[in-house]
Amino acid sequence: MKILGIESTCDETSVAVVENGRTLLSNVVASSSSLHEKYGGIVPEIAAREQIKVIIPALIESFKESGCSQSDIDVVAISYGPGLIGSLIIGVETAKVISLIWGKPLIATNHLIGHIYANWIGATNIKFPLVGLVVSGGHTDLVLMKNHNDIKWLGGTKDDSAGEAFDKVARILGLGYPGGPEIEKAAETVTDSTVDLKLPRPILRNSGFDFSFSGLKTAVANLVREKKLDGDFVNFIAFEFQNAVCEVLVKKTIAAANEFDVKTIVVGGGVSANSKLRALMRKETNKSSFELFFPDKKLSTDNGAMIAAAAFYQKNFIEPLKLQPDPNLYF
Ligand code: KG4
Ligand code: ZN
Repeated sequence: MKILGIESTCDETSVAVVENGRTLLSNVVASSSSLHEKYGGIVPEIAAREQIKVIIPALIESFKESGCSQSDIDVVAISYGPGLIGSLIIGVETAKVISLIWGKPLIATNHLIGHIYANWIGATNIKFPLVGLVVSGGHTDLVLMKNHNDIKWLGGTKDDSAGEAFDKVARILGLGYPGGPEIEKAAETVTDSTVDLKLPRPILRNSGFDFSFSGLKTAVANLVREKKLDGDFVNFIAFEFQNAVCEVLVKKTIAAANEFDVKTIVVGGGVSANSKLRALMRKETNKSSFELFFPDKKLSTDNGAMIAAAAFYQKNFIEPLKLQPDPNLYF
């Protein structure tokens, strides 16, 4: 089954073709992130205006890349939330029109669940039960999946998401946007032994699977107040901040995996592209029997392929005219 996956919940516009939930035939991603750079965060109106321009060219490009034509597509899949309302409307209405005009069934996909399913692309034999960590710009959540349609939310952030913390701290440090890759780059220049500053590891000792990252961001703001931000100092803070976020994410995820005695841990969302998070999660998982999956780095951030993969396994068919975007959709 070939699924056309469309994603437009935030500042990316992506169209992909995925066969049987696992084989990537095409994945075209157009990002407006450079347009938001000077604002240090996403401006919803700018994102939506750009998406109107690029969604049809992305569709055409994706078909070209996949070698498919209209008749090869079995199903259209769309992420209908959570996200920015203007951006969501563009993707949802485009998917509805394609589904109606071409006479293809439509599947509605939750964007957050899509991030989890990015792991299925190119992978074999992901076993249930599993714990999924979704770490994106808008969300930080832990879920327990006993099967494809059996998802239980375990906990999430009480304030900022991990990605938001990366973006805000990058801004405080005078680094670019999006902040995650910038902090990762700055941190790479530092080795352990040269650092003598320590940031808090938020709510690590508390029970439960909730997170909190805004205090960490404030700790960075306090640290740099009235200080000259030279290169080495910025790199040290980036290194320590990245360590603090990754340690908390890894400890909570492993704790959840132990508590629910799962076979597998899967991680998804933009922050799952982070090499430190990957290395630390791998190191800790190697001490136990969990199988660990991260998506291909290109599939960590928003993309249409993960929407097509999730649609294949979840099969939430919907009549096109009944589908509405849901900016606050959750697990
Ligand atoms: O999943 P995503 O593309 O969009 C949302 O659904 O929000 O995630 C975007 C977030 C941004 O906050 C960005 O800074 C972060 O993912 N991110 C990273 C890295 N690449 C992207 N964070 C840490 N390290 C990275 N390499
Ligand atoms: Zn996302």
